[in-house]
Amino acid sequence: MSKNIKKFISVKDLDFNFIEKIFYLASNFKKESLNFNFEKEIISLLFYENSTRTKKSFQIAAENLKCKIIDFEIKTSSIQKGENLKDTIQTLLNLGSRIFVIRHSISQIYKSLIKEFEEENIYIINAGDGSNEHPSQALLDLFTLYEDVGGFKELKNKNLVIIGDCLHSRVARSNIYLLKKFGINVSLVGPRALIPSCFEELDVKIFHNLKEGLSKADFIMVLRLQKERQEHSFLNNINEYIKNFGINEENLKANEINIKNIKILHPGPVNRDVELSSEYMDNKNISLINQQAKNGLFIRMALLYDFLNQL
Ligand code: CP
Repeated sequence: MSKNIKKFISVKDLDFNFIEKIFYLASNFKKESLNFNFEKEIISLLFYENSTRTKKSFQIAAENLKCKIIDFEIKTSSIQKGENLKDTIQTLLNLGSRIFVIRHSISQIYKSLIKEFEEENIYIINAGDGSNEHPSQALLDLFTLYEDVGGFKELKNKNLVIIGDCLHSRVARSNIYLLKKFGINVSLVGPRALIPSCFEELDVKIFHNLKEGLSKADFIMVLRLQKERQEHSFLNNINEYIKNFGINEENLKANEINIKNIKILHPGPVNRDVELSSEYMDNKNISLINQQAKNGLFIRMALLYDFLNQL
């Protein structure tokens, strides 16, 4: 086993064998609770941005594997005295931690870290970097789709529409890269301001109205309107967004889209009754959102298990 830095940064680095292994482990962890023996390992959770699902599922996954956890509190740490991320990681490494789960507002923050720590036997896990990638989210989304259709072969040629704020979305980018590897037809729907022309390079169809965009959809992945990242006003008016792109009964009826043929995903958190109606969100026949959250735990447990065995 190499003693250099290891990384889980981008879905672009993941091959089919790795994903198959992670899904196999996640399915087993879901079925039965096993005894693990990683008491000596310390996993650091460094969340520079807010999180519920990702942070708590990594935490419970680490606890299930019997690891120790450093639940790093940004607000009460020496980061408030000006300590940078590199020095923070070095300090936690000195204390014995070898896996670092990091969420950060800066896209590609990992590039410099990987250089700084290239000779260390540690794992850097991207838990979401700016608007760049969120690889564990895309894996749990793919796993949820895989379970829903019943296998990898069945995913081929399914039509999945990502709708909403693609501009700011690391979830959209990771899912586009990952789902296309499995033969899923990915298209994007939303206002021009939230789907800039750079997405055309990713070989996805782009639509700016619901009727065309959703006409063949098997799955809709609704994205949160990221109000906190809208420094400039990308949207004139939230009500106008809801009227044109909100996934709700009124809009789908008006655009002759039959919701009975569609399943809905959302990475969360949801702005209820903005990008998605409460009625659809809470409808268990339509919504896969609770499955996504549950699968997040087992996918992250499988990832940590695999990574711990590589150290
Ligand atoms: N989907 C997701 O990343 O949610 P959190 O921000 O709650 O982790």
